[in-house]
This record gives sequence, C-alpha cells and structure tokens, in this order.
Amino acid sequence: MTVKECKFLDFRNMSFVEWQPGDGVNVICGQNAQGKTNLLEGLWLFTGGKSFRGSKDAELVKIGSPRARLQCTFEADGREQTADIQIEKRRKITLNGVALSSPTKMTGLFGAVVFSPDHLMMIKGSPDGRRRFLDAALCQVKPGYIKTYSEYMHIVQQRNALLKDWFRFGDDTILEAWNKRMSAAAAEMVVARRDYVARLRAYATEFYAGLSSHKEKFEIDYEPEKGYESLSKDEIAAYWEETIAAARQADVGAGFSTVGPHREDLSVSVAELSARAFGSQGQQRSAVLALKMAEAAVLGEITGERPAILLDDVMSELDVDRQNYLMNHLAGWQVFITACDPSALGRLSKGRVFRMESGNLSET
Ligand SMILES: Nc1ncnc2c1ncn2[C@@H]1O[C@H](COP(=O)(O)OP(=O)(O)O)[C@@H](O)[C@H]1O
Ligand SMILES: [Mg+2]
Repeated sequence: MTVKECKFLDFRNMSFVEWQPGDGVNVICGQNAQGKTNLLEGLWLFTGGKSFRGSKDAELVKIGSPRARLQCTFEADGREQTADIQIEKRRKITLNGVALSSPTKMTGLFGAVVFSPDHLMMIKGSPDGRRRFLDAALCQVKPGYIKTYSEYMHIVQQRNALLKDWFRFGDDTILEAWNKRMSAAAAEMVVARRDYVARLRAYATEFYAGLSSHKEKFEIDYEPEKGYESLSKDEIAAYWEETIAAARQADVGAGFSTVGPHREDLSVSVAELSARAFGSQGQQRSAVLALKMAEAAVLGEITGERPAILLDDVMSELDVDRQNYLMNHLAGWQVFITACDPSALGRLSKGRVFRMESGNLSET
C-alpha cells in the first residue's frame, strides 16, 4: 500500500494541507506544536481506526470550523483508490465514491502501523498493554480472532458474576460447566496468540538486530515457562481445565477468575534481560519499534500489501546508528517519520523532507 496524495481541510490545526509524499522515507520536521503528529493522525484515520492519541472525533475538527474533511489517494490491490473522511459529530468514510457502513470497513484496505511515544507503555507497563497489542494485531490479521476473543471474555465475565456472589448463589455444578467452556475457549486463544508470536518473532529479531547493529539479542516469547510451544490445542485445553479447577479456592476467595489467558503476558527481553525491568530508554524504544515493524511485516505477508509505517517522535533517545538504520535501511516500505531535531536529517541518504509550521506543510 502506498499513499500517493492527501488533502486535509480544517483538520486539527491545518486549514488546508495538500501533499504528495514519496514512496520511501518521508521525514516531517518542525518545532513543537506545529502539527507534525496531527499529520500522522490524519493519515492513520484512513485505517478506519480511532485516533491513536485516544482523542474524540469532535476534537479532530479545527476549532471554529463545522467539520473536517480528509481525502487520500493510495495505491493498493494493484490500483489507485480514493478515500474521503468527513468528521462532524461522527466520522464517515467513503471509498471510491461508495459510503461505508462503518469506518472499520477500511480494515485490510488501508494498512498502517503507528509508533507513538505512548506505546512505550507496551514495554514499560503492565501485561495488559502487551496483551492489547497482541489481541489488536491478531484482529487485523486473523478475521476469526475477534470472535474467539469475545467468546472467551464473555465466559470469564459470566464466571466472575457467579464467583462474585458465591456465598449467596454459589453452585459447583454451574461453576464446573463454566470451567469446561472457559478451558476450551482459553485453548483457542492461547493457540492463536502463540502462533502469532512465533510469526512476529522472526521479523522482530531480524529488525532489532539491524537496529542495534547486531550488538544486542532480542527475544519475545508468549508465557515461556508454560511450554505452550510443544503442546497441541487439546493438551492446552486439558492444562487449563486442571489449572482452573485447582484455582477454585482462590477464585471463590477473590470473587473473580484469578487464572487464564486474560492474565497472561508476552515476555520481551533485550540482551538476555527483561526489557521492562532492565532496558534503557533506547532499548525499550527499540523493542517497541521491533514489535511494531514485525506487526507490519506479518500484516504485509498476510494481505500482500505492506502497510505504511508511521513513526511519531521516534528519534529522540536513539543513538546515531539506530537513527541511521530507521532512515536508511527500511527499503521497500513507505515510512513517515516526525522529528524536532534537524540534526538527524543530515543522515538521510534517500527520501523526502517536509517542514510543518503552524499547520502549513512545505517541502524543504
Ligand atoms: N482541533 C484543533 N483545532 C485547532 N488546533 C488544534 C486542534 N487540535 C490540536 N490543535 C493544535 O495543534 C498543535 C499540536 O499539534 P501536534 O501535531 O501535536 O504538534 P507537533 O508538531 O509537536 O507534533 C497545538 O498547537 C494544538 O493547539
Ligand atoms: Mg508531536
């Protein structure tokens, strides 16, 4: 997938921006608060997702304007396509002149992967963020996964409701029925996550090696101590049936399901140590980047279209070699990098440089 041309009207701090990015690396530079992140946010909206900053739709419209309009011409599926977004109270998307019933219909048509500094929590924070990364990425590449996920979560909720009022309504026959359903759903979910992590691993380790000039080893594993790698789906279901049954007392005491894939984690290590506990700022940033690039590579492999790579404020805390790798060694990808520090630009060997100033974009 390649972005060919964009027009943004009354979007964030941009009154009107029209630009034709290059097919390779595009660097958008400018001082703080000029609209660099806004530009990436606008591109991201064509994936059909919500703002990666967690903003509400109404906040995207330029203050004082009734609506924002964004248009993007991109090449995907061997032809040129045009998508239009109109944001008033709600977001509406039209693709090649046809209105879509929901923005999420863009999934798989306009592919992008975004890195924003908030994503560092994926490494620094609790397992929750890492599970969210896996589940969101899986939803994009495996159409049936959303059902697997919702079913499992639904079972856990129902089981939790029973546990919460256990001393009034507790019933072991009902609990055992939930245990059985939960184990089967857990096995589906674990197999999907495990297999996805195996696909990510190959790309992530290769990318991290390049980024660190082969100085650091990068490893990811889904719940390594459980040995899922060598188990069949039935064996995983049996494991969970036993484990959930064994947690009966703890679950009744706590009033919720204390074990299950909803508590599991993706382990990420750099140079043999946990990236969360021991990683430097640069290593943690590199680890998130490796996961994001791997996510993009798997998506590209499955859909046959390489997604656009949006890198917001990624340069700070990366050393010269890592900056150089990002700017000059991602051949074959369309990349958008925002940067405040102009010194990095000297290292760009091929690519285009744009400047964002008070919502106005120009090529330098
Ligand atoms: N809806 C909006 N209308 C007008 N200006 C906005 C809107 N949303 C954000 N801005 C302005 O955009 C600027 C921030 O842009 P941003 O892209 O985050 O900057 P940066 O270049 O540092 O990435 C701020 O000055 C903010 O006031
Ligand atoms: Mg910014």
